[in-house]
Amino acid sequence: MHDLSPAAWQPLLTTRRLGRTGVILQHTLTSTNTVLKDAARTGALAEAVALCEQQTAGRGRLDRTWSSPEGQGVWMSVLLRPQLPPEKTPMITFCAALAMTKAVRSLTGLDARIKWPNDVVLSGHKVCGVLLEAGFTPEGQMFVVIGSGLNIRRGAYPPELTERAVSLEELCPPPGREALIAAYLNGLEAAVDAVTSGGFTAIEEEYRALSCTLGREVQVLSPAETFTGTALSVDETGALLVRTEDGATRRVLAGDVSVRGVMGYV
Ligand code: BTN
Repeated sequence: MHDLSPAAWQPLLTTRRLGRTGVILQHTLTSTNTVLKDAARTGALAEAVALCEQQTAGRGRLDRTWSSPEGQGVWMSVLLRPQLPPEKTPMITFCAALAMTKAVRSLTGLDARIKWPNDVVLSGHKVCGVLLEAGFTPEGQMFVVIGSGLNIRRGAYPPELTERAVSLEELCPPPGREALIAAYLNGLEAAVDAVTSGGFTAIEEEYRALSCTLGREVQVLSPAETFTGTALSVDETGALLVRTEDGATRRVLAGDVSVRGVMGYV
């Protein structure tokens, strides 16, 4: 059986809804995020999952492209219509990063961590990125599409990213994609349910325990400026609170900046 096929991973689901209906699986897509955003606008699907072997126009944060070659990773997106005020939708990216981090940890035994806002890192290198895009139906109902790109095989990322990126295969015998997909969806539904009823507080402890940003010295790079400080915490809107050397606390929004450790990527 093909490992991306719903028949391979649906038996592993513990979700109430997510992944059980509305699955779009194609060998080649432009971008799973783009496909789900288009589907979301019609309002036909309440929740949905899109998966493919390769993307021809994979997209990353900050208008970057995302390399998604055939069979080298998990390239997938999830459509949700969360019951959250729009300013709190960044919480969903934390849910996705948390769910993927936990899936990788449980299936590989490796010490996966979350680099704010939503990169999953292993040994100081990025193994997964998350792209959240929100939109509205013509009737004004909000939806979010959460894309995740998990590097599994060495060929998942281009050679010029070797300093910053990694794939599971370089660190361990990679688990099956069906197990990773199911574990991620299970964790994502649980985390989204938790923040919908309890806000960020409901996942804060777990997020903090798995973060490799909080409590660290970071360098914030925006088009306008670069500054360093200590990453203290994140707030309900997903912003990173950074204490600078002069004792001020600055709110850093994920849409605008890159955050690195003062010694490098993490
Ligand atoms: C990042 O820049 O770190 C986010 C990368 C997100 C990549 C995934 S792959 C599946 C989904 N479809 C896309 O076009 N992007 C996301």
